[in-house]
Amino acid sequence: MKIALLGNGNIGRPVFDIIYNKEGKFFKDNNIEIKYVLIKRMDKAPFEAPFFTTDFTKIENDPEIELVFEIMGARVSYDFIKRCILKHKSIITANKAVIADHFTELENLAKENGVKLFLEAAVGGGIPIISTLHNNNLVNNINRIEGIVNGTTNYIITSMEKDNLSYDEALKKAQKLGFAEADPSADVLGYDMVRKISILSQIAYGCEVDHNKAYVYGITNITKEFMNAANKVGKTLKYIASSEIIDGKVEVLVEPCLVDSDDIVASVNYEFNFIRYFGDHSQKQLVYGKGAGPATANAIVNDLRLYVAGYDPYIVPYRDLEVIGNSLSKGVYLIEYNGIFDMNLVDKVVDGYYLTKEIDSTTFNNLLPNIKFYAKCI
Ligand SMILES: NC(=O)c1ccc[n+]([C@@H]2O[C@H](COP(=O)([O-])OP(=O)(O)OC[C@H]3O[C@@H](n4cnc5c(N)ncnc54)[C@H](OP(=O)(O)O)[C@@H]3O)[C@@H](O)[C@H]2O)c1
Repeated sequence: MKIALLGNGNIGRPVFDIIYNKEGKFFKDNNIEIKYVLIKRMDKAPFEAPFFTTDFTKIENDPEIELVFEIMGARVSYDFIKRCILKHKSIITANKAVIADHFTELENLAKENGVKLFLEAAVGGGIPIISTLHNNNLVNNINRIEGIVNGTTNYIITSMEKDNLSYDEALKKAQKLGFAEADPSADVLGYDMVRKISILSQIAYGCEVDHNKAYVYGITNITKEFMNAANKVGKTLKYIASSEIIDGKVEVLVEPCLVDSDDIVASVNYEFNFIRYFGDHSQKQLVYGKGAGPATANAIVNDLRLYVAGYDPYIVPYRDLEVIGNSLSKGVYLIEYNGIFDMNLVDKVVDGYYLTKEIDSTTFNNLLPNIKFYAKCI
């Protein structure tokens, strides 16, 4: 089987190495040949070899290419994926941005063209969460997913907690170590997490999940003092993405949360990711591991194994559930508030922060304009 890789960056390189070196029984049993590696400039080819090319149309128009790995994360990725599918090539992608925006459309297109779309590495890096949910969603009604699906923000929060750094210091450290981008907005404002939880929700619940309809609250106003107050009530602060089916609707939230300090999620530290799902038969299950870096390449190559084995990855939505932001759930919150707080809502005051009684989402949403920072107890 002849394949093409689009991109030879941080993840593309280790994917290339695994497939090119053909170590292990899988590669000995299957004749998989890399025919093209698309790069941007020929002078960037890591070594001289005929398969490096800058011409995507060669790949697109080569009928021998059966499977294309999209590992660029570029503006043109969506266009290239679509064009490959239209030329009856299956796709393995790690691209959460494209999948979050075009999941159903690309899946339908793949189905129409008799090819397959694999996306394990789009969420959770090396953690096999996509195939896990896919294998679980038909005979097991999953009704809630929650997790830490962004290593950058978990790194920042853990550094504040364990290394006593301020938010700015922790962010700088994460940037220095390559865990955070120069512009960290997509991570610290929750946009990365909301894409990922929406993809997971779509798979778990079998419905289309538009991430634009979700509720997202960033962590830029987090302080060490707030985290200390959380510790005083036996809680640890974590930045969590969650979704839940409530009254036949899907509520999708990305917000700072307080977990019991003896909950396993409290010990998910630094760049590690964690996803927990709840099903009627499976009950509570969890996966944990590195959500980025070289482990991602393993997840991508595992999609190749599933493809060769004839695995059917289709997740085309089979039911219609409305997606909503923060408007169904009730909660207990720790709140830093600008102004006079309604003490009828308060259970306890800790270091000047208000720990509320259980309040509904309407009450919470009314408080929101004056909230400087908050975390919800889960
Ligand atoms: N890094 C992770 O830990 C991780 C984890 C999970 C998922 N992912 C996903 O994996 C994908 C790749 O991430 P990465 O970290 O490997 O990014 P990266 O290091 O920036 O690599 C992207 C590669 O694609 C190349 N490229 C971009 N546009 C191209 C084009 N038009 N034609 C040919 N080559 C092009 C880039 O070339 P230049 O270097 O010349 O620009 C670069 O070599 C993204 O979708 C990302 O979201 C990454």
